[in-house]
Amino acid sequence: MSGVATTPAAADGSRLDVMNFLNEIAGQYPAAVSFASGRPAEQFFRLDEWLGRVPAYVRHEAQQRQCGVAEAFNTLAQYGRTNGIINGLIARQIALDEGIDCPAGQILVTGGCQEALDLLLTGLCRHEDDVVLVRSPCYIGLTGVADMNRIELAPFSCDDTAVAAALRQTVSAVEARGKRPRLLYLVPDFDNPTGAVLTRAVREELIAFCAARAIVIVEDNPYGMFRYEGERVPSMYALDRHGCVVYLGTYSKTICPALRVGYAAVPARMFGDAQAGKVLIDRLSQAKSFVSVNTSQLTQAVVGALLLSEDGSLSRLVAGPRELYRRNRDLMLAHLAATFADLRGQVGWNTPEGGFFLTLTLPFVFKRREAEICANDYGVLVMPLSFFALGDEEDCRVRLAFSNVTPELIADGVARLGRFVRDALRRPGFSSHS
Ligand SMILES: Cc1ncc(COP(=O)(O)O)c(C=O)c1O
Repeated sequence: MSGVATTPAAADGSRLDVMNFLNEIAGQYPAAVSFASGRPAEQFFRLDEWLGRVPAYVRHEAQQRQCGVAEAFNTLAQYGRTNGIINGLIARQIALDEGIDCPAGQILVTGGCQEALDLLLTGLCRHEDDVVLVRSPCYIGLTGVADMNRIELAPFSCDDTAVAAALRQTVSAVEARGKRPRLLYLVPDFDNPTGAVLTRAVREELIAFCAARAIVIVEDNPYGMFRYEGERVPSMYALDRHGCVVYLGTYSKTICPALRVGYAAVPARMFGDAQAGKVLIDRLSQAKSFVSVNTSQLTQAVVGALLLSEDGSLSRLVAGPRELYRRNRDLMLAHLAATFADLRGQVGWNTPEGGFFLTLTLPFVFKRREAEICANDYGVLVMPLSFFALGDEEDCRVRLAFSNVTPELIADGVARLGRFVRDALRRPGFSSHS
């Protein structure tokens, strides 16, 4: 286990640059093979068909509310309820697909999961001593929200099996400085960027520890429905008996990102207190009413219509994409194995059981400069893990996204990476620490 020192909010914006880097580099090298961004596969988008289902949702609404269809259409076009309109359908979907038991009234529909992250961090960390605990490397969307709001992050870096021990150590260090560990952020299923999954034992250990210390766990789960093999691990929300886990979901990966529909599911009894769950959902709702007023009712209606036509579950809808992602992962693994067969002692990678990403470990430093060389000279875009790191511990790893590339591009992109690695190893001064 290696710890990472507490990092004050990156007020200089250095971490905030990363999203721009990704967008800029993709724009600058349109012909390059991109393993850089975790976009869902476009071939499964059926936007014209999905939009055509909105009237079916409106008819359902009219029936529920016992009003005319024209009135239900007008309600949809009007400003809407801040907490959302498809909360009941979401509650049913996560019950069916994730085994999560959360009352519809404890669900806040948000503008993607990103808005939920923002509302939770700013809603829970209101005191300057409040600190957010994160594993490093960490999803940029979360660290960005903390930085934008000058909320302090306490990162720790450790093996997937040693998370609880690393957390205990970090909490002690934070408390010793007179600060308050307020929230632990985790992506327990197919983490972005590492692809890692936390075992049930680790999840239970973390819940017990956080419950005893009144630390809220924010479980972010965009990739959980994309498991290709192995046994499913229950979500932390489903395992939690203390009311310390807030669950965040999104339809960006299961349906499409343009919807901007996500949600936060807040326990009814937070830390065993029947009032606290309501206080938190009301606080998040109040904040949202001054940020985005309400999540687009049109796109909520698309989600609602799909859930209605799928009998409440997304499992049929994701079956096709999941099979494609599994094939892409297998193909990428096969090309890595072939390309780096003679370098197996030096170049390594993980085999994620699901999700959109795998990580490649190189025998030399690979950071922003190397990513630019790869893009410029070799025509392949990848994300260094140093972009997600909160310390210096991620010098040599690279995230490869396999979700939105064709088999031909996987072959071509890995070959390009192979050429880059071989050239780098041949070049004196490149192979250790550039
Ligand atoms: C871990 C994680 N959380 C949240 C999000 C944001 O999702 P949304 O599109 O719902 O804002 C992403 C998107 O890539 C993600 O990887």
